[in-house]
Amino acid sequence: MSAIQLKTEIPGPRSRELFARREAAVPRGPINVTPIFVQEASGALLIDVDGNRLIDFAGGIGCVNVGHANDAVVEAASAQLERFTHGCFHVTPYESYVRLAERLNALVPGDFPKKTFFANSGAEAVENAVKVARAATGREAVLAFEDGFHGRTLLAMSLTSKVHPYKAGFGPFAPEVYRAPYAYCYRCSYHLEYPACGVACVDALEDYFKRYVAAEDVAAVIVEPVLGEGGFVVPPKEFLPKLREVTARHGILLIADEVQTGFGRTGKLFAVEHSGVVPDILIAAKSMAGGLPLSSITGRAEVMDAAEVGALGGTFGGNPVSLAAAHAVLDQMEAGTILDQANRIGRILSERAAGWKARYPIVGDVRGVGAMWAVELVKEKSTRAPAKNETTAVSKKCYERGLVTITAGTYGNILRTLMPLVIRDEELIEGLDVFEGALREVAGV
Ligand SMILES: Cc1ncc(COP(=O)(O)O)c(C=O)c1O
Repeated sequence: MSAIQLKTEIPGPRSRELFARREAAVPRGPINVTPIFVQEASGALLIDVDGNRLIDFAGGIGCVNVGHANDAVVEAASAQLERFTHGCFHVTPYESYVRLAERLNALVPGDFPKKTFFANSGAEAVENAVKVARAATGREAVLAFEDGFHGRTLLAMSLTSKVHPYKAGFGPFAPEVYRAPYAYCYRCSYHLEYPACGVACVDALEDYFKRYVAAEDVAAVIVEPVLGEGGFVVPPKEFLPKLREVTARHGILLIADEVQTGFGRTGKLFAVEHSGVVPDILIAAKSMAGGLPLSSITGRAEVMDAAEVGALGGTFGGNPVSLAAAHAVLDQMEAGTILDQANRIGRILSERAAGWKARYPIVGDVRGVGAMWAVELVKEKSTRAPAKNETTAVSKKCYERGLVTITAGTYGNILRTLMPLVIRDEELIEGLDVFEGALREVAGV
C-alpha cells in the first residue's frame, strides 16, 4: 500500500484556510516552504489538516533523525513533564543536565578532558562557542566560510554567508568576523580543480592572515564539516585535517558546527568523525532532542572553563524536558541502529541518484555522505548557472504529490535530504519515485 495518501489536492481546503489566516496574522519574514499545515506526524510520515498523508524528506530541517513522535522520546519527555517542567539549571540544578554533559563529553571526539553546557538553539550554541573561544584565547576575530550558515541572531547572522534573505538590511553586523572560501569544489572560488589544487583553499589562509587579519588576533575558525544550508557540500577528505593543522599552528581554536550534520545525519554521531579531526569545541542542536529545543557546546575543559562564573547560560538552556528527550535520542544513537539506517539510506540514495547527472541535463552535481545528500540543479552543465526556479518547481511538484522536500544553497538551486533516519525502505523508495518524477518533468526529458 502506498505510504502517500492524498484525500484532497495539496494544499487542501483547511490548509488553504489556515494559510490565509497565517498571512493576516504572521509577518511574511518567517518563510513557509510548503503551504501544508500539519496535524500529526510519526516516523517519516506527516498527516495534514485535510487528512492527507505525506512522506517527509525534510524532518523539520533535520530535527527528527529518530523520527517524528519517537516513542522513547515521547515517553521520556512526558515523564519529565510530570516530574517538573522547568527548574532553571542556574537556580536549582538537576541530574539529567550533568549526565547529558558527561555523555557528550565521552562521545565528542578528543582524548582529553571536556566540559559541556546547554542552550536552546543552534544560533545560541554558535554565540556561546564564540564567547568561550574569545574568553579562552583573549583574541577577538572569528573566521567563518563562504556559503556557511550559523543562524540568525546578530553574531550568528554575521558569521552566516548568504546575504538574501539572511542578512540584507540587518546590518551593522558584529565586528571581527572574517570569511574565506570553503572547499566547495563544484563552485571553487579559486577556479581550481580537485585534486590537482591540493586543497589550496586551506593553504590560502596563510596569505589571508597577511592580508586581512593577523593569525594571532583570531580566536576561532568556525566550520561546518559538511555545509548545511550552503548546499550539503562535502569537502575533500584533506580539507578538515589541513584546517586543523593551520589552526593548531597559530593557536586558533577550531569550532565544529555540527548543528545540521550531528546526531547521525552523516552516518556517524558527528560528521568530524569521518575525518579523524578533533575540534576544540563542537556544537550540536537540531536532532539532539528529537524535535525539542536544545543545543550543546562541548569543548576542551580548560577552554570551556575560561569564562567566569555566571558568564554563560540562560533561563531555559538545558530545559529538563528537552534533556530527557535527548537522553532517549542518545540511547538510540548509541545502540547503533539509527546510524546504520543513515548509512543504509545513503546507499539507497547514492544508487538511485548515480545516473541522474547523465540522464537529466539540469542535474549539475549529486553529492553526499550518510543520509545527507544533495542534488544541485543548473541551467546548463557547461556554465553551471544555478537553476533556482527549476529547483523551486521540483520542490513544489513534490509536495503537490505528497513528498515534503526543502531546498538549500546560496543560489537556492539545491535539493537536500533530511528525512527522519527511521524512514522505511518502501517510504524512501516511494519518495524517491516522486522526487525523480518531478525532476524528470522539470528537466523536460
Ligand atoms: C550549521 C548550522 N548552524 C547553526 C544553525 C542555527 O540553528 P537554529 O536555527 O537552531 O538557531 C543551523 C540551522 O539550520 C545550521 O544548519
